This record gives sequence, structure tokens and C-alpha cells, in this order.
Amino acid sequence: MTRTFVIDTDPGIDDALALLLAARASAARLGAVCVTYGNTTLDRAARNARLVLARGPSAAPVFAGWDRPLARPLITAKETHGVEGLGDHDDLPAPEAVAPSRRGLLDALAVAGEDVTLVTLGPLTNLANALAEDAAQVRRRVTRHVMMGGNVAEAGNTGPFSEFNVWCDPEAADAVLRAGLGTEMVGLDVTRRLVLPAAAVAKLATHADPAARWLGRLLGFYVRFHEEVEGLRGAVINDPLAVALALQPAWGTLERLPLAVDLGAGEDRGRTAPGGRGDPTIGVYRSVDLPPIHALLIEHLFGGWLSAGDFLP
Ligand code: BDR
Ligand code: CA
Repeated sequence: MTRTFVIDTDPGIDDALALLLAARASAARLGAVCVTYGNTTLDRAARNARLVLARGPSAAPVFAGWDRPLARPLITAKETHGVEGLGDHDDLPAPEAVAPSRRGLLDALAVAGEDVTLVTLGPLTNLANALAEDAAQVRRRVTRHVMMGGNVAEAGNTGPFSEFNVWCDPEAADAVLRAGLGTEMVGLDVTRRLVLPAAAVAKLATHADPAARWLGRLLGFYVRFHEEVEGLRGAVINDPLAVALALQPAWGTLERLPLAVDLGAGEDRGRTAPGGRGDPTIGVYRSVDLPPIHALLIEHLFGGWLSAGDFLP
């Protein structure tokens, strides 16, 4: 059965891979995309989503969501994703101004139809806004919510404890995790296992095929970032894992945990910690079966250029 996906995203290097995967996977139909700030600004995110989907190819419409966190200042991540958000692709057409909308995700859900798998790959502001504007419509259309964000046992990537997407807008994440959507959290506990080695990225970057070189240019920036910040010879490609587990949940082990988002301003900001009396139970992926996930990525993203052995460190 083909499922309908709606993706809320802040492209972003790994978001770009996730969008391509969702556009190409035969088990899903990409019904619509909504963009958010996060890795980059809202207008750049909208431009980047359209550029990436054109490579899909996909005719999924792109809606603009909100352009900043609910209660915190806007901070983007150009040191992680490049000035334009797509790594070393810094020669992109200037972004057009887009009008931020609190209803952007509701509009995306409306065109996608019923029985939607919603995959969120950025800060949760758009989903929190959608719930605040029309929770009944969100509940009617979204039968599954898979979120890249958070962490339970793994260290943070934005401060010692927190994951970037939740850290950006903790109030939004808190509202979403309390909404009872049955959210499945694909956090750093599992995404840190999905690493594309630097040698594989170099192979893409030097390939004769321009489509491979486009990916190499996208990911080369990410490899340099990981090497400079943590000495890792490769790139953690978080967001495609959320799409992979949305396609096939059996590739992961899901644990139900009560979880609370830290709403402070200190180094615990955005931490998703187990416990917190009265907090709802969230599904947290604690482990993943990598070989079929590597095979999926090779089939839809790296086909012909990389093989399973290229994922070995
Ligand atoms: C998440 O933050 C962003 O940098 C990535 O796109 C991913 O969604 C990882 O913490
Ligand atoms: Ca992202």
C-alpha cells in the first residue's frame, strides 16, 4: 500500500537527502512539503526545497510555514549547513521573499489528503502552530508522526545535552510531544549510527556523473564540519533516517518512554529527558538495523556510484 507523506523541513544538507529519498521511494507518495527556518532562513529553505525536489523529481507543492521560534530569538546554522543551507552550493539563485504563515502546515496537509504520515525534519514550530490553529484537522489527517529530533542516551549536538531541532524551539517541541499524536522520535540515539564516510563523499565529489558531483558538493561541507567539530571522518546524515523509518518502522526498535522537554534557558535548554510526572509517552527509536537502510539509500540516492561497502568506516 502506498502511504502519503507530508514533510516539514528546513533544508539543510541532510534534509535535502531526506527529500530526495521521500520523492523517489516507491512505497510512499510525497503529497506536500512545508518549510521552516532552522538550518537556514525560511526564504532560503523554500528555495532549497524547490531546487531539491526538482532533482527528485517531484511535483509535490511547497508551502511556507513560520519564520522563527515561538518564544526564542531566531538562530540558524550556517556553520553546519553553509551560507545558503546546501553545503558548498553557495552559488544558488537569490531566494524570493516568502510570506510566513502559521497555517502553512495545515495547507500542506489539506492538499495531501487523508491518512498522512507526517515527517518533521526541523524545529517543530510549524506543527505546534498547526495544533494551535486547528488541532482537530491535524488529528483527522495525520495518522502517524515521525520526528527527527531529540535524544535520550546520546550526547547533544547543540550544547552538551540537546539536539538542534528541539533546542531551536523547545516550546514548540513541548506542545507537540504533549499533543498525544503518538509521535515516534528518531533522535540522535539512532541517527548518530548513520554515517556516510568521508571517502564515500570524496568518491561522489570526483565522479564523472554530474548528479553524483552535486551530492558530493552538498555533503563535502558536512564532512568538513564534522571533522572540525568532532574529528569524525564522515557525515552524520540524520534526516534520511527519519524517512527510512517512516517507510519501514521494523528497521528500528521503538521504546515507549515518558519524555519531557527542558524549557529553561541554560545548558539544558531543549533537552528531551525521560521522566517528568504526567508527561505523555513518546515512541523513541533506540536502535536501528543499518544494512537495509544503507540499501535503501543506495537504491534511491547513491545508486550506481556507491555500494554497501562504502558505508563501512
Ligand atoms: C538535525 O538538525 C539539523 O542540523 C539537521 O538537519 C537535523 O534535522 C540534527 O540535529
Ligand atoms: Ca533538518
